[in-house]
Amino acid sequence: MESLRRFSFVSFIALLAYFAFLASAELHVRKFVIEPKPVKRLCRTHQSITVNGQFPGPTLEVRNGDSVVITVINRARYNISIHWHGLRQLRNPWADGPEYITQCPIRPGQSYTYRFTIEDQEGTLWWHAHSRWLRATVYGALIIYPLLGSPYPFSMPKRDIPILLGEWWDRNPMDVLRQAQFTGAAANVSDAYTINGQPGDLYRCSRSETMRFPIFPGETVQLRVINAAMNQELFFSVANHQLTVVETDSAYTKPFTTNVIMVGPGQTTNVLLTANQRPGRYYMAARAYNSANAPFDNTTTTAIFEYVNAPTRRGRGRGQIAPVFPVLPGFNDTATATAFTNRLRYWKQARVPLQIDENLFFTVGLGLINCTNPNSPRCQGPNGTRFAASMNNMSFVLPRRNSVMQAYYQGMPGIFTTDFPPVPPVQFDYTGNVSRGLWQPVKGTKAYKLKYKANVQIILQDTSIVTPENHPMHLHGYQFYVVGSGFGNFNPRTDPARFNLFDPPERNTIGTPPGGWVAIRFVADNPGAWFMHCHIDSHLGWGLAMVFLVENGRGQLQSVQPPPLDLPRC
Ligand code: C2O
Repeated sequence: MESLRRFSFVSFIALLAYFAFLASAELHVRKFVIEPKPVKRLCRTHQSITVNGQFPGPTLEVRNGDSVVITVINRARYNISIHWHGLRQLRNPWADGPEYITQCPIRPGQSYTYRFTIEDQEGTLWWHAHSRWLRATVYGALIIYPLLGSPYPFSMPKRDIPILLGEWWDRNPMDVLRQAQFTGAAANVSDAYTINGQPGDLYRCSRSETMRFPIFPGETVQLRVINAAMNQELFFSVANHQLTVVETDSAYTKPFTTNVIMVGPGQTTNVLLTANQRPGRYYMAARAYNSANAPFDNTTTTAIFEYVNAPTRRGRGRGQIAPVFPVLPGFNDTATATAFTNRLRYWKQARVPLQIDENLFFTVGLGLINCTNPNSPRCQGPNGTRFAASMNNMSFVLPRRNSVMQAYYQGMPGIFTTDFPPVPPVQFDYTGNVSRGLWQPVKGTKAYKLKYKANVQIILQDTSIVTPENHPMHLHGYQFYVVGSGFGNFNPRTDPARFNLFDPPERNTIGTPPGGWVAIRFVADNPGAWFMHCHIDSHLGWGLAMVFLVENGRGQLQSVQPPPLDLPRC
Protein backbone atom coordinates (compact mmCIF):
# COMPACT_ATOMS: atom_id res chain seq x y z
CA MET A 1 0.00 0.00 0.00
CA GLU A 2 2.76 2.36 1.06
CA SER A 3 4.77 1.56 -2.08
CA LEU A 4 1.70 2.00 -4.24
CA ARG A 5 1.07 5.39 -2.73
CA ARG A 6 4.68 6.38 -3.29
CA PHE A 7 4.48 5.15 -6.85
CA SER A 8 1.41 7.17 -7.67
CA PHE A 9 2.95 10.23 -6.04
CA VAL A 10 6.09 9.85 -8.15
CA SER A 11 4.11 9.36 -11.35
CA PHE A 12 1.95 12.34 -10.45
CA ILE A 13 5.08 14.51 -10.15
CA ALA A 14 6.41 13.10 -13.41
CA LEU A 15 3.12 13.90 -15.10
CA LEU A 16 3.21 17.44 -13.72
CA ALA A 17 6.75 17.91 -15.02
CA TYR A 18 5.66 16.63 -18.41
CA PHE A 19 2.76 19.07 -18.58
CA ALA A 20 5.03 21.90 -17.47
CA PHE A 21 7.34 20.95 -20.32
CA LEU A 22 4.48 20.92 -22.82
CA ALA A 23 3.22 24.23 -21.53
CA SER A 24 6.65 25.86 -21.86
CA ALA A 25 7.23 24.61 -25.41
CA GLU A 26 6.46 27.39 -27.84
CA LEU A 27 5.34 27.52 -31.44
CA HIS A 28 7.23 30.00 -33.62
CA VAL A 29 5.38 30.99 -36.77
CA ARG A 30 7.49 33.05 -39.17
CA LYS A 31 7.58 34.21 -42.75
CA PHE A 32 10.80 34.26 -44.77
CA VAL A 33 10.30 36.32 -47.92
CA ILE A 34 13.16 35.73 -50.35
CA GLU A 35 13.61 38.99 -52.23
CA PRO A 36 16.27 41.12 -53.89
CA LYS A 37 17.26 44.26 -51.93
CA PRO A 38 19.89 46.89 -52.67
CA VAL A 39 22.92 46.26 -50.46
CA LYS A 40 25.87 48.65 -50.59
CA ARG A 41 29.32 47.27 -49.76
CA LEU A 42 32.84 48.19 -50.96
CA CYS A 43 31.50 51.41 -52.60
CA ARG A 44 28.99 49.62 -54.84
CA THR A 45 25.36 48.63 -54.58
CA HIS A 46 24.15 45.18 -55.58
CA GLN A 47 20.66 43.72 -55.73
CA SER A 48 21.37 41.02 -53.17
CA ILE A 49 19.03 38.13 -52.49
CA THR A 50 17.84 38.52 -48.88
CA VAL A 51 15.34 37.19 -46.38
CA ASN A 52 12.76 39.85 -45.47
CA GLY A 53 15.09 42.48 -46.92
CA GLN A 54 17.71 41.78 -44.23
CA PHE A 55 21.38 40.99 -44.75
CA PRO A 56 22.44 38.91 -42.89
CA GLY A 57 19.02 37.36 -42.45
CA PRO A 58 16.92 37.36 -39.26
CA THR A 59 18.18 35.52 -36.17
CA LEU A 60 15.90 32.67 -35.11
CA GLU A 61 15.77 32.36 -31.33
CA VAL A 62 14.05 29.26 -30.02
CA ARG A 63 14.14 26.94 -27.07
CA ASN A 64 14.80 23.22 -26.91
CA GLY A 65 11.43 21.50 -27.37
CA ASP A 66 9.89 24.35 -29.39
CA SER A 67 8.22 23.89 -32.73
CA VAL A 68 8.89 26.08 -35.75
CA VAL A 69 6.70 26.82 -38.75
CA ILE A 70 8.45 28.95 -41.37
CA THR A 71 6.81 29.77 -44.66
CA VAL A 72 9.41 30.57 -47.29
CA ILE A 73 7.95 32.75 -50.04
CA ASN A 74 10.18 33.00 -53.10
CA ARG A 75 9.98 36.47 -54.65
CA ALA A 76 13.41 36.19 -56.27
CA ARG A 77 14.19 35.06 -59.80
CA TYR A 78 16.12 31.99 -58.65
CA ASN A 79 15.01 28.60 -57.35
CA ILE A 80 15.77 28.36 -53.66
CA SER A 81 15.55 26.11 -50.60
CA ILE A 82 16.54 26.74 -46.98
CA HIS A 83 18.57 24.39 -44.76
CA TRP A 84 18.59 24.50 -40.95
CA HIS A 85 22.21 23.62 -40.53
CA GLY A 86 22.85 21.17 -37.68
CA LEU A 87 19.22 20.52 -36.77
CA ARG A 88 18.62 16.81 -36.58
CA GLN A 89 15.11 16.89 -38.10
CA LEU A 90 14.32 13.49 -36.61
CA ARG A 91 12.25 11.36 -39.05
CA ASN A 92 11.53 14.60 -40.86
CA PRO A 93 13.94 14.93 -43.81
CA TRP A 94 11.25 16.97 -45.60
CA ALA A 95 12.24 19.99 -43.53
CA ASP A 96 16.00 19.62 -44.03
CA GLY A 97 16.23 21.68 -47.20
CA PRO A 98 19.11 20.71 -49.54
CA GLU A 99 17.73 21.04 -53.06
CA TYR A 100 17.35 17.80 -55.04
CA ILE A 101 18.33 15.78 -51.95
CA THR A 102 15.31 16.09 -49.64
CA GLN A 103 13.12 18.42 -51.68
CA CYS A 104 12.76 20.03 -55.06
CA PRO A 105 13.63 23.72 -54.93
CA ILE A 106 10.98 26.39 -54.37
CA ARG A 107 10.35 28.02 -57.75
CA PRO A 108 10.09 31.80 -58.16
CA GLY A 109 6.58 32.83 -57.10
CA GLN A 110 6.05 29.64 -55.07
CA SER A 111 6.28 28.93 -51.36
CA TYR A 112 6.95 26.06 -48.98
CA THR A 113 6.41 25.79 -45.24
CA TYR A 114 9.17 24.19 -43.16
CA ARG A 115 7.67 22.55 -40.05
CA PHE A 116 9.94 21.04 -37.43
CA THR A 117 10.47 20.53 -33.72
CA ILE A 118 13.72 21.04 -31.85
CA GLU A 119 14.32 17.71 -30.13
CA ASP A 120 17.03 17.52 -27.53
CA GLN A 121 19.34 20.13 -29.03
CA GLU A 122 20.65 23.42 -27.67
CA GLY A 123 23.31 25.92 -28.64
CA THR A 124 24.40 27.79 -31.73
CA LEU A 125 23.38 26.67 -35.19
CA TRP A 126 22.48 28.62 -38.29
CA TRP A 127 20.33 28.49 -41.38
CA HIS A 128 21.25 29.13 -45.00
CA ALA A 129 20.07 28.76 -48.58
CA HIS A 130 20.95 25.31 -49.95
CA SER A 131 20.66 26.12 -53.61
CA ARG A 132 23.74 26.87 -55.70
CA TRP A 133 25.50 30.00 -54.37
CA LEU A 134 22.51 31.77 -52.87
CA ARG A 135 23.82 31.20 -49.36
CA ALA A 136 26.41 33.92 -50.05
CA THR A 137 23.77 36.37 -48.84
CA VAL A 138 20.92 34.16 -47.58
CA TYR A 139 21.95 33.08 -44.09
CA GLY A 140 21.32 33.83 -40.43
CA ALA A 141 21.87 32.60 -36.89
CA LEU A 142 19.72 29.91 -35.24
CA ILE A 143 20.02 30.07 -31.47
CA ILE A 144 18.54 27.32 -29.31
CA TYR A 145 18.23 28.06 -25.60
CA PRO A 146 18.02 25.17 -23.14
CA LEU A 147 14.69 24.05 -21.68
CA LEU A 148 13.42 26.48 -19.08
CA GLY A 149 15.19 25.72 -15.82
CA SER A 150 17.83 23.56 -17.47
CA PRO A 151 21.26 24.98 -16.55
CA TYR A 152 24.28 25.67 -18.75
CA PRO A 153 27.37 23.66 -17.82
CA PHE A 154 29.23 26.97 -17.39
CA SER A 155 28.22 30.30 -15.98
CA MET A 156 26.31 31.88 -18.81
CA PRO A 157 26.95 35.61 -19.34
CA LYS A 158 23.96 37.92 -19.52
CA ARG A 159 24.99 39.17 -22.93
CA ASP A 160 25.18 37.01 -25.97
CA ILE A 161 26.48 38.28 -29.32
CA PRO A 162 26.10 36.35 -32.59
CA ILE A 163 29.15 36.85 -34.82
CA LEU A 164 28.37 35.76 -38.38
CA LEU A 165 31.48 35.51 -40.54
CA GLY A 166 30.62 35.81 -44.22
CA GLU A 167 32.15 36.32 -47.62
CA TRP A 168 31.29 39.11 -50.06
CA TRP A 169 31.74 39.36 -53.81
CA ASP A 170 31.65 42.72 -55.55
CA ARG A 171 29.50 40.93 -58.15
CA ASN A 172 26.37 38.84 -58.19
CA PRO A 173 27.54 35.55 -56.56
CA MET A 174 25.28 33.60 -58.92
CA ASP A 175 27.20 35.10 -61.87
CA VAL A 176 30.51 34.15 -60.23
CA LEU A 177 29.23 30.58 -59.99
CA ARG A 178 27.86 30.58 -63.54
CA GLN A 179 31.19 31.72 -64.93
CA ALA A 180 33.07 29.01 -63.01
CA GLN A 181 30.62 26.36 -64.16
CA PHE A 182 31.12 27.45 -67.75
CA THR A 183 34.91 27.67 -67.78
CA GLY A 184 35.62 24.68 -65.53
CA ALA A 185 38.18 26.83 -63.71
CA ALA A 186 38.06 27.75 -60.03
CA ALA A 187 35.53 30.46 -59.11
CA ASN A 188 36.84 33.97 -58.48
CA VAL A 189 37.82 34.46 -54.87
CA SER A 190 35.72 36.84 -52.78
CA ASP A 191 36.48 40.55 -52.38
CA ALA A 192 35.88 40.74 -48.65
CA TYR A 193 35.09 38.79 -45.53
CA THR A 194 32.39 40.21 -43.31
CA ILE A 195 31.36 40.28 -39.65
CA ASN A 196 27.58 40.45 -39.35
CA GLY A 197 27.48 41.54 -42.97
CA GLN A 198 30.08 44.35 -42.64
CA PRO A 199 33.64 44.14 -44.03
CA GLY A 200 35.08 46.61 -41.53
CA ASP A 201 37.77 49.28 -41.38
CA LEU A 202 40.34 47.68 -43.65
CA TYR A 203 38.19 47.81 -46.80
CA ARG A 204 37.26 50.65 -49.11
CA CYS A 205 34.08 52.65 -48.29
CA SER A 206 33.41 50.49 -45.22
CA ARG A 207 34.73 52.38 -42.20
CA SER A 208 31.57 54.17 -41.10
CA GLU A 209 29.58 50.91 -41.15
CA THR A 210 32.09 48.82 -39.20
CA MET A 211 30.33 46.74 -36.54
CA ARG A 212 30.94 48.11 -33.04
CA PHE A 213 30.16 46.29 -29.83
CA PRO A 214 30.10 48.44 -26.68
CA ILE A 215 31.29 46.53 -23.62
CA PHE A 216 31.36 47.34 -19.91
CA PRO A 217 34.65 46.97 -18.05
CA GLY A 218 34.69 43.68 -16.17
CA GLU A 219 31.76 42.29 -18.11
CA THR A 220 31.82 38.78 -19.64
CA VAL A 221 30.01 38.20 -22.92
CA GLN A 222 29.40 35.12 -25.03
CA LEU A 223 30.28 35.29 -28.72
CA ARG A 224 28.50 32.82 -30.96
CA VAL A 225 30.95 32.65 -33.86
CA ILE A 226 29.42 31.15 -37.01
CA ASN A 227 31.46 30.59 -40.16
CA ALA A 228 28.96 31.31 -42.93
CA ALA A 229 31.71 31.99 -45.49
CA MET A 230 31.28 30.17 -48.79
CA ASN A 231 34.76 28.83 -49.37
CA GLN A 232 37.16 29.62 -46.57
CA GLU A 233 38.23 28.39 -43.15
CA LEU A 234 38.89 31.40 -40.93
CA PHE A 235 41.08 32.30 -37.99
CA PHE A 236 39.31 34.57 -35.50
CA SER A 237 40.85 36.52 -32.67
CA VAL A 238 40.25 39.56 -30.42
CA ALA A 239 43.13 41.92 -29.58
CA ASN A 240 44.55 41.45 -26.05
CA HIS A 241 41.62 39.26 -24.93
CA GLN A 242 41.54 35.56 -24.22
CA LEU A 243 38.70 33.45 -25.57
CA THR A 244 37.23 30.59 -23.52
CA VAL A 245 35.71 27.95 -25.81
CA VAL A 246 32.51 26.43 -24.36
CA GLU A 247 30.62 24.99 -27.33
CA THR A 248 31.07 23.85 -30.92
CA ASP A 249 28.26 22.99 -33.37
CA SER A 250 25.60 23.04 -30.61
CA ALA A 251 27.51 20.67 -28.31
CA TYR A 252 29.17 21.82 -25.10
CA THR A 253 32.92 21.35 -24.68
CA LYS A 254 35.25 21.25 -21.73
CA PRO A 255 36.13 24.94 -21.44
CA PHE A 256 39.64 26.02 -22.43
CA THR A 257 41.21 29.37 -23.20
CA THR A 258 43.00 30.38 -26.37
CA ASN A 259 44.05 33.53 -28.23
CA VAL A 260 42.73 32.34 -31.57
CA ILE A 261 40.10 29.96 -32.89
CA MET A 262 39.81 28.34 -36.32
CA VAL A 263 36.30 27.93 -37.69
CA GLY A 264 35.58 26.03 -40.90
CA PRO A 265 32.63 26.84 -43.18
CA GLY A 266 29.53 25.36 -41.54
CA GLN A 267 31.04 25.25 -38.07
CA THR A 268 30.08 27.31 -35.03
CA THR A 269 32.16 28.03 -31.93
CA ASN A 270 30.92 29.73 -28.77
CA VAL A 271 33.50 31.59 -26.73
CA LEU A 272 33.37 33.66 -23.56
CA LEU A 273 35.28 36.92 -23.41
CA THR A 274 35.88 39.04 -20.33
CA ALA A 275 36.54 42.78 -20.67
CA ASN A 276 39.53 42.73 -18.30
CA GLN A 277 41.91 44.92 -20.30
CA ARG A 278 42.78 48.60 -20.16
CA PRO A 279 39.67 50.65 -21.11
CA GLY A 280 40.06 51.11 -24.83
CA ARG A 281 39.07 49.92 -28.27
CA TYR A 282 40.01 46.46 -29.52
CA TYR A 283 39.57 44.87 -32.92
CA MET A 284 38.13 41.45 -33.41
CA ALA A 285 39.39 40.15 -36.73
CA ALA A 286 39.03 37.17 -39.06
CA ARG A 287 41.12 36.12 -41.99
CA ALA A 288 41.81 33.02 -44.05
CA TYR A 289 43.27 29.76 -42.89
CA ASN A 290 44.19 28.47 -46.34
CA SER A 291 45.62 24.94 -46.37
CA ALA A 292 45.38 24.41 -50.14
CA ASN A 293 47.89 25.27 -52.76
CA ALA A 294 45.40 27.63 -54.43
CA PRO A 295 44.47 31.31 -54.69
CA PHE A 296 42.35 32.71 -51.86
CA ASP A 297 40.98 35.98 -50.53
CA ASN A 298 43.85 37.33 -48.44
CA THR A 299 41.93 40.22 -46.82
CA THR A 300 40.95 40.73 -43.16
CA THR A 301 37.55 41.63 -41.74
CA THR A 302 37.27 43.55 -38.48
CA ALA A 303 34.77 44.78 -35.94
CA ILE A 304 35.43 46.77 -32.77
CA PHE A 305 34.98 46.08 -29.06
CA GLU A 306 34.60 49.46 -27.40
CA TYR A 307 34.89 49.77 -23.64
CA VAL A 308 32.20 52.25 -22.66
CA ASN A 309 34.83 54.12 -20.61
CA ALA A 310 37.45 54.16 -23.37
CA PRO A 311 39.44 57.42 -23.27
CA THR A 312 39.19 59.83 -26.19
CA ARG A 313 42.07 61.72 -27.73
CA ARG A 314 42.52 65.31 -26.60
CA GLY A 315 43.58 68.41 -28.44
CA ARG A 316 44.05 68.41 -32.16
CA GLY A 317 42.69 65.28 -33.88
CA ARG A 318 40.24 64.75 -31.08
CA GLY A 319 38.00 61.72 -31.16
CA GLN A 320 38.25 58.05 -30.58
CA ILE A 321 41.58 56.38 -30.03
CA ALA A 322 42.71 53.86 -32.63
CA PRO A 323 41.74 50.25 -31.87
CA VAL A 324 44.41 47.69 -30.98
CA PHE A 325 44.91 45.02 -33.64
CA PRO A 326 45.11 41.29 -32.72
CA VAL A 327 47.89 38.92 -33.70
CA LEU A 328 46.51 36.43 -36.23
CA PRO A 329 48.31 33.27 -37.40
CA GLY A 330 49.74 33.15 -40.91
CA PHE A 331 47.27 32.02 -43.58
CA ASN A 332 49.00 28.62 -43.90
CA ASP A 333 49.50 27.97 -40.19
CA THR A 334 48.18 24.39 -40.14
CA ALA A 335 50.00 23.76 -36.85
CA THR A 336 47.89 26.39 -35.04
CA ALA A 337 44.65 25.22 -36.71
CA THR A 338 45.35 21.58 -35.80
CA ALA A 339 46.45 22.34 -32.24
CA PHE A 340 43.21 24.26 -31.69
CA THR A 341 40.98 21.51 -33.10
CA ASN A 342 42.81 18.84 -31.11
CA ARG A 343 42.05 20.59 -27.82
CA LEU A 344 38.29 20.13 -28.21
CA ARG A 345 36.66 17.65 -25.77
CA TYR A 346 33.03 16.83 -25.13
CA TRP A 347 31.97 18.44 -21.83
CA LYS A 348 31.20 15.11 -20.16
CA GLN A 349 31.62 11.43 -20.89
CA ALA A 350 30.17 10.78 -24.33
CA ARG A 351 28.06 7.85 -25.44
CA VAL A 352 30.30 6.81 -28.31
CA PRO A 353 29.28 3.69 -30.26
CA LEU A 354 31.86 1.01 -29.46
CA GLN A 355 30.76 -1.97 -31.58
CA ILE A 356 30.97 -0.83 -35.20
CA ASP A 357 28.50 -2.31 -37.73
CA GLU A 358 29.53 -0.19 -40.71
CA ASN A 359 33.23 0.47 -41.07
CA LEU A 360 33.50 2.98 -43.92
CA PHE A 361 36.55 4.53 -45.50
CA PHE A 362 35.95 7.53 -47.77
CA THR A 363 38.63 9.39 -49.67
CA VAL A 364 37.79 13.08 -50.11
CA GLY A 365 39.55 15.41 -52.45
CA LEU A 366 39.78 17.24 -55.72
CA GLY A 367 40.24 15.90 -59.23
CA LEU A 368 40.42 17.02 -62.82
CA ILE A 369 38.23 16.01 -65.75
CA ASN A 370 40.15 15.67 -69.01
CA CYS A 371 38.72 17.42 -72.04
CA THR A 372 38.74 16.05 -75.59
CA ASN A 373 39.47 19.61 -76.71
CA PRO A 374 41.74 21.15 -74.04
CA ASN A 375 41.61 24.52 -75.83
CA SER A 376 37.86 24.76 -75.42
CA PRO A 377 36.63 27.82 -73.44
CA ARG A 378 34.91 25.25 -71.23
CA CYS A 379 38.21 23.68 -70.18
CA GLN A 380 40.06 26.48 -68.42
CA GLY A 381 41.09 24.36 -65.42
CA PRO A 382 44.76 23.32 -65.00
CA ASN A 383 46.30 22.17 -68.35
CA GLY A 384 43.02 22.40 -70.27
CA THR A 385 40.91 20.37 -67.83
CA ARG A 386 37.82 21.02 -65.73
CA PHE A 387 37.92 20.96 -61.93
CA ALA A 388 36.08 18.18 -60.14
CA ALA A 389 35.96 16.73 -56.62
CA SER A 390 34.89 13.37 -55.28
CA MET A 391 34.39 10.94 -52.41
CA ASN A 392 35.70 7.44 -53.12
CA ASN A 393 36.27 8.60 -56.69
CA MET A 394 32.53 9.34 -57.14
CA SER A 395 31.85 12.91 -58.18
CA PHE A 396 28.29 13.61 -57.01
CA VAL A 397 25.78 14.95 -59.51
CA LEU A 398 22.52 16.41 -58.19
CA PRO A 399 19.47 14.79 -59.78
CA ARG A 400 17.14 17.14 -61.67
CA ARG A 401 13.88 15.27 -62.19
CA ASN A 402 13.21 14.64 -58.51
CA SER A 403 14.88 14.81 -55.12
CA VAL A 404 16.58 11.70 -53.76
CA MET A 405 14.24 11.58 -50.76
CA GLN A 406 11.06 11.98 -52.80
CA ALA A 407 12.20 9.36 -55.32
CA TYR A 408 13.09 6.99 -52.46
CA TYR A 409 9.76 7.53 -50.71
CA GLN A 410 7.71 7.15 -53.90
CA GLY A 411 9.80 4.23 -55.15
CA MET A 412 10.60 6.16 -58.34
CA PRO A 413 13.53 4.50 -60.16
CA GLY A 414 16.24 6.18 -62.23
CA ILE A 415 16.98 9.12 -59.90
CA PHE A 416 19.86 7.60 -57.92
CA THR A 417 21.54 4.26 -57.21
CA THR A 418 22.52 2.77 -53.84
CA ASP A 419 25.95 1.46 -54.80
CA PHE A 420 28.15 4.17 -53.30
CA PRO A 421 31.36 2.27 -52.48
CA PRO A 422 32.16 1.73 -48.76
CA VAL A 423 35.89 1.81 -49.55
CA PRO A 424 37.87 3.43 -52.40
CA PRO A 425 37.59 1.44 -55.66
CA VAL A 426 41.40 1.50 -55.90
CA GLN A 427 43.82 1.65 -52.99
CA PHE A 428 46.82 3.94 -53.41
CA ASP A 429 49.10 6.16 -51.35
CA TYR A 430 46.39 8.80 -50.83
CA THR A 431 48.66 11.52 -49.51
CA GLY A 432 51.75 10.73 -51.57
CA ASN A 433 52.60 11.55 -55.15
CA VAL A 434 49.42 10.27 -56.83
CA SER A 435 49.80 9.05 -60.42
CA ARG A 436 47.89 11.13 -62.98
CA GLY A 437 45.85 8.10 -63.98
CA LEU A 438 43.97 8.40 -60.67
CA TRP A 439 43.08 12.10 -60.92
CA GLN A 440 39.86 11.75 -62.90
CA PRO A 441 36.74 10.81 -60.88
CA VAL A 442 33.54 9.20 -62.17
CA LYS A 443 30.29 11.20 -62.14
CA GLY A 444 27.14 9.78 -60.63
CA THR A 445 24.31 10.09 -58.10
CA LYS A 446 25.05 7.40 -55.58
CA ALA A 447 23.79 6.79 -52.07
CA TYR A 448 24.93 4.40 -49.36
CA LYS A 449 22.28 2.46 -47.44
CA LEU A 450 22.43 2.17 -43.67
CA LYS A 451 20.27 -0.07 -41.48
CA TYR A 452 18.28 1.74 -38.81
CA LYS A 453 20.38 2.07 -35.63
CA ALA A 454 23.58 0.82 -37.28
CA ASN A 455 26.75 1.93 -35.49
CA VAL A 456 28.75 3.74 -38.14
CA GLN A 457 32.40 4.72 -38.32
CA ILE A 458 33.75 6.73 -41.24
CA ILE A 459 37.40 7.49 -41.90
CA LEU A 460 37.50 10.61 -44.04
CA GLN A 461 40.85 10.50 -45.82
CA ASP A 462 42.04 13.62 -47.66
CA THR A 463 43.98 12.98 -50.87
CA SER A 464 46.82 14.99 -52.33
CA ILE A 465 45.23 14.92 -55.79
CA VAL A 466 45.58 18.49 -57.18
CA THR A 467 46.30 19.70 -53.61
CA PRO A 468 45.99 18.45 -50.05
CA GLU A 469 43.43 20.56 -48.20
CA ASN A 470 41.29 20.90 -45.11
CA HIS A 471 37.80 19.84 -46.25
CA PRO A 472 35.07 20.80 -43.74
CA MET A 473 32.84 17.72 -44.06
CA HIS A 474 29.22 18.21 -43.00
CA LEU A 475 26.66 15.48 -42.35
CA HIS A 476 22.97 16.40 -42.44
CA GLY A 477 20.51 14.93 -39.92
CA TYR A 478 23.18 13.90 -37.43
CA GLN A 479 25.69 14.94 -34.83
CA PHE A 480 28.78 12.72 -34.80
CA TYR A 481 31.74 12.16 -32.50
CA VAL A 482 35.19 13.01 -33.80
CA VAL A 483 37.17 10.12 -32.32
CA GLY A 484 40.53 10.64 -33.98
CA SER A 485 42.57 12.41 -36.66
CA GLY A 486 46.07 12.52 -37.99
CA PHE A 487 48.33 13.41 -40.90
CA GLY A 488 49.27 11.08 -43.76
CA ASN A 489 47.37 7.89 -44.56
CA PHE A 490 45.10 6.34 -41.94
CA ASN A 491 46.68 3.20 -40.53
CA PRO A 492 43.95 0.72 -39.50
CA ARG A 493 46.42 -1.30 -37.40
CA THR A 494 47.90 1.45 -35.25
CA ASP A 495 45.61 4.51 -35.37
CA PRO A 496 42.40 3.13 -33.75
CA ALA A 497 44.36 2.40 -30.56
CA ARG A 498 44.72 6.16 -30.12
CA PHE A 499 41.03 7.00 -30.61
CA ASN A 500 39.34 9.05 -27.91
CA LEU A 501 36.23 7.03 -27.05
CA PHE A 502 35.75 8.80 -23.73
CA ASP A 503 35.09 12.49 -24.41
CA PRO A 504 35.52 13.14 -28.15
CA PRO A 505 33.97 16.40 -29.41
CA GLU A 506 30.49 16.15 -30.92
CA ARG A 507 29.99 18.11 -34.15
CA ASN A 508 28.08 18.31 -37.41
CA THR A 509 31.04 19.54 -39.49
CA ILE A 510 34.69 18.51 -39.22
CA GLY A 511 37.68 19.38 -41.36
CA THR A 512 40.05 16.73 -42.67
CA PRO A 513 43.58 17.77 -41.74
CA PRO A 514 45.25 18.74 -45.04
CA GLY A 515 46.92 15.55 -46.28
CA GLY A 516 45.45 13.66 -43.34
CA TRP A 517 42.38 11.83 -42.05
CA VAL A 518 39.66 12.20 -39.46
CA ALA A 519 37.51 9.44 -37.89
CA ILE A 520 33.87 9.99 -36.93
CA ARG A 521 31.23 7.78 -35.30
CA PHE A 522 27.46 7.99 -35.01
CA VAL A 523 24.38 5.80 -34.59
CA ALA A 524 22.14 5.81 -37.68
CA ASP A 525 18.98 6.49 -35.68
CA ASN A 526 17.42 9.04 -38.03
CA PRO A 527 15.78 7.49 -41.11
CA GLY A 528 15.80 9.40 -44.39
CA ALA A 529 18.12 10.69 -47.11
CA TRP A 530 20.95 12.70 -45.57
CA PHE A 531 23.50 14.65 -47.53
CA MET A 532 27.16 14.45 -46.59
CA HIS A 533 29.40 16.99 -48.29
CA CYS A 534 32.26 19.41 -48.13
CA HIS A 535 30.95 22.76 -46.86
CA ILE A 536 33.28 24.65 -49.20
CA ASP A 537 30.70 25.55 -51.82
CA SER A 538 33.07 25.37 -54.80
CA HIS A 539 33.95 21.81 -53.79
CA LEU A 540 30.29 20.90 -53.31
CA GLY A 541 29.59 22.16 -56.82
CA TRP A 542 32.45 20.02 -58.15
CA GLY A 543 30.88 16.91 -56.62
CA LEU A 544 32.46 16.49 -53.17
CA ALA A 545 29.34 14.86 -51.75
CA MET A 546 27.36 11.66 -51.23
CA VAL A 547 24.04 10.64 -49.66
CA PHE A 548 23.28 8.31 -46.79
CA LEU A 549 19.97 6.51 -47.10
CA VAL A 550 19.02 5.43 -43.58
CA GLU A 551 16.28 2.82 -43.62
CA ASN A 552 13.22 2.88 -41.40
CA GLY A 553 13.21 0.86 -38.23
CA ARG A 554 10.07 -0.81 -36.87
CA GLY A 555 6.79 1.05 -36.55
CA GLN A 556 5.87 4.71 -36.86
CA LEU A 557 8.28 6.02 -34.26
CA GLN A 558 11.25 4.67 -36.20
CA SER A 559 10.04 5.65 -39.67
CA VAL A 560 10.09 8.74 -41.85
CA GLN A 561 6.94 10.85 -41.46
CA PRO A 562 4.67 11.32 -44.46
CA PRO A 563 5.72 14.32 -46.57
CA PRO A 564 3.87 17.62 -46.18
CA LEU A 565 1.29 18.36 -48.88
CA ASP A 566 3.00 21.53 -50.08
CA LEU A 567 6.39 19.85 -50.64
CA PRO A 568 7.62 21.37 -53.93
CA ARG A 569 7.65 19.18 -57.04
CA CYS A 570 10.46 19.26 -59.58
CU1 C2O B 1 25.24 23.97 -44.07
CU2 C2O B 1 24.45 20.90 -46.71
O1 C2O B 1 24.86 22.45 -45.46
